[in-house]
Amino acid sequence: MKIHEYQGKQIFAKYGIPVPKGYPAFTVEEAYEKAKQLIAETGSPVTVVKAQIHAGGRGKGGGVKVAKGGADDAKALAEKILGMQLVTHQTGPEGTKVRRLYIEQGLEMQKEFYLGAVVDRDRRRIVFMASTEGGVEIEKVAAESPEKILTVHVDPATGLMPYQSNQLAFGLGLQAFGKDTPKKFVKFMAALYECFVKEDCSLLEVNPLVVLKNGDVMALDSKINFDDNGEFRHKEWAELQDKDEEDKVELEAKEAGLNYVSLDGNVGCLVNGAGLAMATMDIIKVFGEKDGVSPANFLDVGGGANQEQVTKAFKMILKSDKVKAIFVNIFGGIMKCDVIANGVVAAAKELGLKVPLVVRLEGTNVELGRKILSDSGLAITAATTMADGAQKIVAAVAGGAK
Ligand SMILES: Nc1ncnc2c1ncn2[C@@H]1O[C@H](COP(=O)(O)OP(=O)(O)O)[C@@H](O)[C@H]1O
Ligand SMILES: [Mg+2]
Repeated sequence: MKIHEYQGKQIFAKYGIPVPKGYPAFTVEEAYEKAKQLIAETGSPVTVVKAQIHAGGRGKGGGVKVAKGGADDAKALAEKILGMQLVTHQTGPEGTKVRRLYIEQGLEMQKEFYLGAVVDRDRRRIVFMASTEGGVEIEKVAAESPEKILTVHVDPATGLMPYQSNQLAFGLGLQAFGKDTPKKFVKFMAALYECFVKEDCSLLEVNPLVVLKNGDVMALDSKINFDDNGEFRHKEWAELQDKDEEDKVELEAKEAGLNYVSLDGNVGCLVNGAGLAMATMDIIKVFGEKDGVSPANFLDVGGGANQEQVTKAFKMILKSDKVKAIFVNIFGGIMKCDVIANGVVAAAKELGLKVPLVVRLEGTNVELGRKILSDSGLAITAATTMADGAQKIVAAVAGGAK
């Protein structure tokens, strides 16, 4: 799960990680009031108006602007940014609508650095990455000059050791900004590590981490992804979630207790179990790649779904415009084939079936399931094996497209 920059900074502040003063704003009027308040509090007329969307690269896309001329200037920028369709290298060409702003104190820095932390799954450790090439172009650094990225792996038994943070501090050349700057960085790192662990993050990024004129270090941006597996112990995440930024269908599925993943292709897939879901994705690609046929999503109804859940699941697939054909691939173990068949028929009768449907059922109550489908009067293509089903679905989409 992702959160906004301002929410991340509120969390940072709880751990004593220095961040600029700032306030979220949901309207232009509010942006104006907050800018006035900030200017009064800081004594500086400079504020920064920042679009809050769950994607990076906002600065380059025109979503981060400095207002040097006081609250009126901030208001004018807020008018431009709020409601804009912000396109960055992380949003895709359609961009994301800006619905929230962050009005922040404008700071003068000596230098911008990159600092990030993720879980390194191969090493099973949290890894910190730091670079002198901070600011907005870290992807380029990683691609073109990876040697400029310093890394430190943290042993979970000891936690982050001060010597490791010191290594990064001197690797970044922070001593050039005064003898206290490396010490401040070490403190910063300790707080960031604590935040990563206690908040169950999967990714934490401070880009840029800056050294201010007085040698202080500060987080000028924040990006936090939470590890969804930790959700059960973080009731507060529910309030941090911004539903506008989430995939609508994925949200609906989650609320119905279904696992749904949205993809870029054209075949809707109703499956049960993660393993069968992966295998189904693979086999569609094997047979469909050359004809441009690939999965549009998969909906895993799991082992214990009831008929209402299956109906809901199938309706969700039917509603997607991307879906040019539907492949139902079910191995009924705990899940019974007749429950699936009844769910599919109920949903198709309610919404109408406008695309080809290929069904492959095996397992418990398979005969009954097949009978329910064949008695339904729906145009269903039956498949015997996964390969047979995949070939039939590819033929249906490729044939229909030509
Ligand atoms: N409070 C601030 N004061 C001064 N400059 C800022 C401030 N916040 C951001 N900036 C500048 O804008 C750039 C982009 O902002 P950032 O928050 O990193 O957004 P993004 O990473 O999405 O582009 C930063 O690298 C920094 O140069
Ligand atoms: Mg940034």
